[in-house]
Amino acid sequence: KRVAIMISGGGSNMVALLDSMTADHPAEPCLVLSNDARAGGLAKAAARGVPTTVVDHRPFGKNRSAFEDELMKPLLAAGTDIVCLAGFMRVLTDGFVSRWQGRMLNIHPSLLPKYKGLHTHQRALEAGDSEHGCTVHEVTARLDDGPILGQARVPVMEGDTPDSLAARVLVQEHRLYPAVLRRFAGGDRRPLMLD
Ligand code: GRF
Repeated sequence: KRVAIMISGGGSNMVALLDSMTADHPAEPCLVLSNDARAGGLAKAAARGVPTTVVDHRPFGKNRSAFEDELMKPLLAAGTDIVCLAGFMRVLTDGFVSRWQGRMLNIHPSLLPKYKGLHTHQRALEAGDSEHGCTVHEVTARLDDGPILGQARVPVMEGDTPDSLAARVLVQEHRLYPAVLRRFAGGDRRPLMLD
């Protein structure tokens, strides 16, 4: 299976995914695609010998479908079978999502269905949650809402800030996403619940 990873920033999840796709893995990376040329993940991908492309969303303004038509070109040219969103910060329309239905994954920093959207760590702290975590899910037209493929949990600690909690969750993201991709690429869609 050929995996394209879409990023907008540092790409720490992308690095974890790239480094997990060893020779015995059912998938191999075919492309890293960013909507922002400044994304630090691009250099990390190039350093690992993975082709990279930038499709800047800004020239398209509010014309999401025109932007997405441009995204499709490098994804198709690379022979992509699976798309992994990893810190990709643009909302995708159901037109684009439906073309990758059942073949596009995303990682979200909360225990979905709790805290869809942004500022998840701050919201968990404000709610006084004792537990938090991250979720890998299939991407559907509704934001952060598709079938759950895996979750990992972390304790909320006394004195946690959004940053300290985010850092604890990120460690689990880097465990969860590679584990879910390995199963998913092997055709196993059963949810994976990490301890
Ligand atoms: C992470 O919190 C991830 O959950 C979210 O984007 C953040 C940064 O991810 N999707 P990365 O370091 O760019 O992979």
